[in-house]
Amino acid sequence: MPDFLTIDDFNFKDKTTLIRVDFNSPIDPETNRILDDTRIRVHGETIRELAEKGAKVVILAHQGRPGEPDFIPLKQHAELLGRVLSKPVKYVNDIFGETAQRAIKKLESGEILVLDNVRGFVNERKKGTPQEHSKQDLVQKLAPLADVFVNDAFAAAHRAHVSVIGFTAVFPSIAGRVMERELKALTKVLEMPEKPCVFILGGAKADDSLDISRYVLMNNIADHVLTGGVIGHVFLVARGFSLGKPNMEYLEKKGQMGLVPGIEELMKRYPGEIEVPADVAVEIDGRRKEVAAGEFPTEHPIYDIGTETIKKYAEIIGQAKSIVLSGPMGVFEKGEFVKGTKEVFNAAAASKAFSLVGGGHTVAAVEELGVAKAISYVSTAGGALIEFLMGKQLPGVIALKKAAGV
Ligand code: 3PG
Repeated sequence: MPDFLTIDDFNFKDKTTLIRVDFNSPIDPETNRILDDTRIRVHGETIRELAEKGAKVVILAHQGRPGEPDFIPLKQHAELLGRVLSKPVKYVNDIFGETAQRAIKKLESGEILVLDNVRGFVNERKKGTPQEHSKQDLVQKLAPLADVFVNDAFAAAHRAHVSVIGFTAVFPSIAGRVMERELKALTKVLEMPEKPCVFILGGAKADDSLDISRYVLMNNIADHVLTGGVIGHVFLVARGFSLGKPNMEYLEKKGQMGLVPGIEELMKRYPGEIEVPADVAVEIDGRRKEVAAGEFPTEHPIYDIGTETIKKYAEIIGQAKSIVLSGPMGVFEKGEFVKGTKEVFNAAAASKAFSLVGGGHTVAAVEELGVAKAISYVSTAGGALIEFLMGKQLPGVIALKKAAGV
């Protein structure tokens, strides 16, 4: 039994249903066009189910942050949603003003309306409790027109924003299908992972990876932490290697060197559990060349893990019963340097273990490498997933549990 209500627990027939989704998508800065509609497609399933159950569906979502180039209206998102669902989707260029209110009142059962970018409301990103947020205009104006709140936006659940938690103080509040699936998959690996459990951490955010490693090792969740990408570089430095001028300068520039003492401490505590690359691939005149860690420093930029590392990581992954994979092993966009990411992801895909993949570039990588179908669960969340993996309680999830009386 989950400790929040799900769509199965409520009769949506003829009910005006406010649903918070996360449509936040990458936007082409030149054309303002949406570059990837994954999140729209994923939430589309929940929205379709609600409409088929007879709900009058009112969608709240954000795109970008005020002042940033990707802060655009949701008209395009509404059009894409219409295409995904193959049915009309209404849109108003208003969040809770008279135009929005009129459109909500006119909705018939099974109809769908997208309101404008909720971050156009000046107080949306103010921090507060559900009770405090329920006094905000957004909730005050929309609550009298609706019957129930569905939160499907797991990817925004780490934000204590008005549209994420404010309605839970005034309505029956229910987890949408995306929220439900994400929480089930994440709980499976974090609460009772089948052992051995392997965390594979790559990409560029070493501070996040240190926090995740610390949490999963100290709580006996992970048996192995395998590092790659820039994270692997910082962990190599913590193991005592000097990576050579271009690589060390890059780590300095990105402010990653400050993490080294924390990683050293963790490595002392867990000497057998943390793996760093035994070899890497550098770029020389546009070509891949492999260098063993024993041969460091190198004067060339490191863009991938090497063959020995891939072999060792694939062996560990092959023994695993649970796998969490976040971040690529190198600059996989550069053809010569796709090998590490490809082979490690293939090993996870080939394994019979429960595998969970997430984090912005990771999802792009699994799609591009064609292994998404062989992964047990692909999360569409970025920051929310990372915070969950660090053991943090997400305000959006806490609010749903509280509203369910748990
Ligand atoms: C995301 O894409 O991670 C979420 O939509 C949250 O966006 P934010 O970082 O702008 O709050």
